Amino acid sequence: MNWGIILFICFSVGVCAYASQDVQVFDLMPYPADIEVQRGKFLLDDSFRISVTGNPHERGYRAATRMLRQLSARTGLFFTQDFIRPGQLEHAAAMQVHVVLPGKVALHQDESYTLTIRPKSVTLTADTDIGALRGFETLLQLLKVNSSGYYFPCVTIQDKPRFPWRGLLIDVCRHFMPSEVIKRNLDGMAAVKMNVLHLHLSEDQGFRIECKTYPKLHEMGSDGLYYTHAQIKEIIAYADDRGIRVVPEFDIPGHTTSWFAGYPDLASAPGPYEISRGWGIHEAVMDPTREQTYAFLDGFFNEMCALFPDEYMHIGGDEANYIHWKKNRTIRRFMEANDIRDFHELQAYFNRRVNQILSYYGKKMMGWDEILHPELPKSILIQSWRGKEAMIQCAKDSVYTILSNGYYIDLIHPADIHYLNDPSPADVKLTEEQRKFILGGETTMWAEFVTPETIDSRIWPRTAAIAERFWSPESVKDVHDMYSRLEAITLQLEELGLTHEKNRGMMLRRLICSREIHPLEVLVDVLEPVKGYQRGALREYTSYSPMTRMVDIARPDASVARKFRWNVKAFLEVNLEPGTAQMIEEQMSVWKENHSELTALIRQIPALDEIKPHAEHLFICAQIGLEALNKIRKGDPVKKKWKKNHLKTLKKMHDPHGQTELMIVSAIKQLVDGVPER
Ligand code: ACM
Repeated sequence: MNWGIILFICFSVGVCAYASQDVQVFDLMPYPADIEVQRGKFLLDDSFRISVTGNPHERGYRAATRMLRQLSARTGLFFTQDFIRPGQLEHAAAMQVHVVLPGKVALHQDESYTLTIRPKSVTLTADTDIGALRGFETLLQLLKVNSSGYYFPCVTIQDKPRFPWRGLLIDVCRHFMPSEVIKRNLDGMAAVKMNVLHLHLSEDQGFRIECKTYPKLHEMGSDGLYYTHAQIKEIIAYADDRGIRVVPEFDIPGHTTSWFAGYPDLASAPGPYEISRGWGIHEAVMDPTREQTYAFLDGFFNEMCALFPDEYMHIGGDEANYIHWKKNRTIRRFMEANDIRDFHELQAYFNRRVNQILSYYGKKMMGWDEILHPELPKSILIQSWRGKEAMIQCAKDSVYTILSNGYYIDLIHPADIHYLNDPSPADVKLTEEQRKFILGGETTMWAEFVTPETIDSRIWPRTAAIAERFWSPESVKDVHDMYSRLEAITLQLEELGLTHEKNRGMMLRRLICSREIHPLEVLVDVLEPVKGYQRGALREYTSYSPMTRMVDIARPDASVARKFRWNVKAFLEVNLEPGTAQMIEEQMSVWKENHSELTALIRQIPALDEIKPHAEHLFICAQIGLEALNKIRKGDPVKKKWKKNHLKTLKKMHDPHGQTELMIVSAIKQLVDGVPER
């Protein structure tokens, strides 16, 4: 990161939220609630040891050991301390951790901590080991290096989350995600202090968990791709060790094709049913009028409620398609007989019955905002995804709620869009009491267009910015500062085995069957997958389509393109700064000079044919941009027509190719616009 540019931009647009010293020194994410900076450093060397005292749950010792190993890995220091275990008090250890009580991984757990770093000591105190875990992550992020060694800057941090529910949903149905994918993402979540993994476990495309009561669910609904009970228990234990709850979702009554592959009698229309290979809203829907449906669900939830320890069970409830209800005469008769006026009311009847089952097994019911209905008890929790209205309504009605609208990372929007989306927006009129019902938010990783190979690159690093929105004070919202810290955090996330950075090289090498990926990297650095729901509209995909092309290698929020856009903006808005001009020029020259090698490569590789127009456009953009920059620098005015022609040429370069977009066209247009006119 070029700090000159960052500070230059911050200064120029006047939006830096913190003292610049903090911004430069601390790559913390989420940023703590309170940080006081002191003079001095704690120098880390081989003698570093940790002592854990008080009364933590065992996970506190395991987390301390993990942190020690991570520090050792990052620094190459040979610490002498082995596993940290209860009863091994070390009064002389430089790091003293004190935990008052064992934590419980549950909603409203105490996650606060105080971290004090002085030249000779590091002290972490927390009411629970879960708070201590959050503090360990902060300490890891504080590690710095210079030529004299590794050190922690002297600070006092008092920290606690703004929201108690900070979640990530992973859809393991559209594409199955093996346990190791889940575990490495749990590590990533812990690193940025997230505390709920929402596993979306059943869908039209797959039923992803072993069901002992009704084995045809996983046997006929999963293509053999499902978690066994043992694997689920392992995931839950792994999450618990990191202070993360696991909330399972079984999406009913819609999104249920895979259930009906084995149990067609649950459906509202006759079978047979097969696992779906395509995306979108399907017609399959459970029959809410038959007692056998509830008997089945009773047996099913009996098993699942025992397997998952969390107090919440998510029943989905989104996008139930009413076509089969409408066509089914028995269902319509049932509605008449029971004075059920419409299908939404019929779904509310279904939800009430399911809620009774879940209550019996000691669970609270959670669902997408479609399930909101006055006849449901206030004990439910609503996940607001179609907008914020349901969330606001819930807050007013004293119903717990979380926000997912605005956190759909599968839609490939840049991090700042999500970052500035507040779960409890100040401009919405709610009392403090009402706001307490907004528990937080969840980012959603729907898996139509990701595989185990690419999923991390869609989740990270953007989710770290969202994690900050859920944890840090509302006032922490400077976008440039967020991006500069994200740059450091993305590398730290890599340490955990996440593949968001490293898989790119492998995927490029595979695509061109060669190590000589540089020309293609130059292009993919400025490409992004198309946004929103365009990808599926531009080309037909199934669950077995390849996810290995340029659109999969291109990452959301392409940082090279973003920095180029910022530099152009800064250059044009702030006195045409010469250093910035040089950076812009160098970047465009790279694009221009790369062109012949890139086109030679594209000619060789059929799979690259679809992005050939982008390669041409990047070359033209570079030529036009260099010409415009030169004219701006020289103050060399042009005729109106010059601009008009160039802008016309550039206009069509916004079009997607191979479901990717070229992300620097707007900046080139700005340069053209910035040339003085005669
Ligand atoms: C959803 O995105 N259908 C909850």
